[in-house]
Amino acid sequence: MPESQDTGAAPKIDTSKPHPARMYDWMLGGKDNYPVDEELGRQMVALEPQLPLMARMNRAFMRRATRWLATQGIDQFLDIGSGIPTEPNLHQLAQRERPEARVVYCDRDPIVMAHAEALLRGTPEGALDFALVDAHDTAAVLALAAKTLDLSLPVAVSLVALLHFIRDEDGAHELVSAFKDALAPGSYLVLSHFTADFHSAEDIAKASGAYRAKGLTAALRTRAEFSRFLDGFEPVEPGVVLAEQWHPELGEPVPGQEGHISSTYAAVARKN
Ligand SMILES: C[S@@+](CC[C@H](N)C(=O)[O-])C[C@H]1O[C@@H](n2cnc3c(N)ncnc32)[C@H](O)[C@@H]1O
Repeated sequence: MPESQDTGAAPKIDTSKPHPARMYDWMLGGKDNYPVDEELGRQMVALEPQLPLMARMNRAFMRRATRWLATQGIDQFLDIGSGIPTEPNLHQLAQRERPEARVVYCDRDPIVMAHAEALLRGTPEGALDFALVDAHDTAAVLALAAKTLDLSLPVAVSLVALLHFIRDEDGAHELVSAFKDALAPGSYLVLSHFTADFHSAEDIAKASGAYRAKGLTAALRTRAEFSRFLDGFEPVEPGVVLAEQWHPELGEPVPGQEGHISSTYAAVARKN
């Protein structure tokens, strides 16, 4: 059953198996990870040495998309599967453009909560919140978000590097549809998603097998499968592209990215 909790509780951090938030932190060069995370991370990097670069390219897409949304007038953000805070964080980017912006972060990993609580201290009351909640529990996500955001007004909902952990049979599309139905017209969906389109079937089978062996799920979709998440939304220019191709003019290139691809599809789409 998905868990949903407010920030009061302090669930235990499980260091016996790898967790996506901590593996991603390891890929980004962070220190908030454990040997189990590094071990699986290294197995993945042995199959695809550019994974740390790809993680940075994905993060750079989030930064550009946030800037773009803020300049479109969006001042409410709901970031689901937010990950361990990595500067600059979404709220910093949004509030740079729009100081009044309010941001709710959600993740299901207690390690993210521990760091998010530190982040929340010292920020103006009511501008920022974190909810420890599983994205499958869309009603709980929305109820927790509504404490900070006015859901009758446009919100940008980010599912950045999240959906590739959720299989169709585990409700990935129902999850996106639930947010679509709940959002006010003028809201945006921000998606990025690792894909198998640029790797051999053999490497993908090895990577998926290593994930499964550690109790993790990988749902690597093709471009067409990714695009289905946008049904009912209107993608903004340039549509579905690789993360590094989405408005590159809005940020600096990631050092070392030239000549490499992120293997990550990205899109920002509007609910009309
Ligand atoms: C690869 S990280 C992405 C972090 C951030 N969105 C970014 O792109 O920089 C994926 C995050 O999704 C979280 N996550 C995975 N499945 C989740 C679920 N069902 N509900 C909420 N969070 C989830 C993980 O804990 C992790 O922090």
